[in-house]
Amino acid sequence: MTLYGIGLGPGEPELVTVRGKRILEDVDVVYSPGRLSRTVATEHVPEARIGDLDFPMTRDEEKLRRAWKEAAAEIAPRAREGDAAFVTLGDPNVYSTFGHLRRTLDAFHPDVDLEVVPGVSAMTAFATALGVEVPAGSGLALREADQGRSPTGPDRMILFKVTDAPATHEGLVDAGYDVTYGRRLFMEQGETVVTEDPGEIDERDYYTLAYATRSDAAEALATAQFETTDGHSGPVTEERAEGVACGDESPEVRSDD
Ligand SMILES: C[S@@+](CC[C@H](N)C(=O)[O-])C[C@H]1O[C@@H](n2cnc3c(N)ncnc32)[C@H](O)[C@@H]1O
Repeated sequence: MTLYGIGLGPGEPELVTVRGKRILEDVDVVYSPGRLSRTVATEHVPEARIGDLDFPMTRDEEKLRRAWKEAAAEIAPRAREGDAAFVTLGDPNVYSTFGHLRRTLDAFHPDVDLEVVPGVSAMTAFATALGVEVPAGSGLALREADQGRSPTGPDRMILFKVTDAPATHEGLVDAGYDVTYGRRLFMEQGETVVTEDPGEIDERDYYTLAYATRSDAAEALATAQFETTDGHSGPVTEERAEGVACGDESPEVRSDD
């Protein structure tokens, strides 16, 4: 039988994928590494089918290895006898605890069949939540900014683990970035905040990310002219459309996404 690693998405139960929901409904037992993922999972499965795992709050690597070995020893027999799931917020393969479980199973229980069901990651959900577009042709880097760190370099970055927004902000602005913060995006637990003001989110909350762009990072996009030709956006009149069409010497029309 199978152990499914299921990505639950950013937190709203409706953002669990159709496949993820179907598997959650079918498996015998569902394990969750934390309170938030458990809250999302229990929107789709009864509490009685949630399995018990104990994870210590520690950075001590020896204690963590022991905890993962114990977790794998609990999960492996259930995934041999029947179907089981391990859920994580976002996607199981993006900055996720699922990686620890997979490595531990590979090492100590290699006979367990694993299947991963992708989830909507904060890495992509942020764009809709913040109302920004990552245009085709642009580069985008993922970095961590815990403990007030301000990683710099790429023109566009998503920063995870923004736990001290004012300190991170200072470094980013000094390096020439515009920054927008998102806290608890598409989450039902806690307040969702989208802001450019780090003072609004100066209390530590692990579920905070930032999108940082260099002020001069801009791609030449054919349709950008619709927004700027006569200085305003809105419905395109025939005259505006003509102006736009004249300005566009080599429109490239593609549909590849
Ligand atoms: C360990 S990573 C987990 C990423 C997750 N596996 C994913 O694919 O979205 C945790 C970091 O992701 C970001 N994050 C995850 N979910 C978020 C949400 N709903 N709103 C804002 N940030 C979120 C935060 O920066 C948090 O510190």
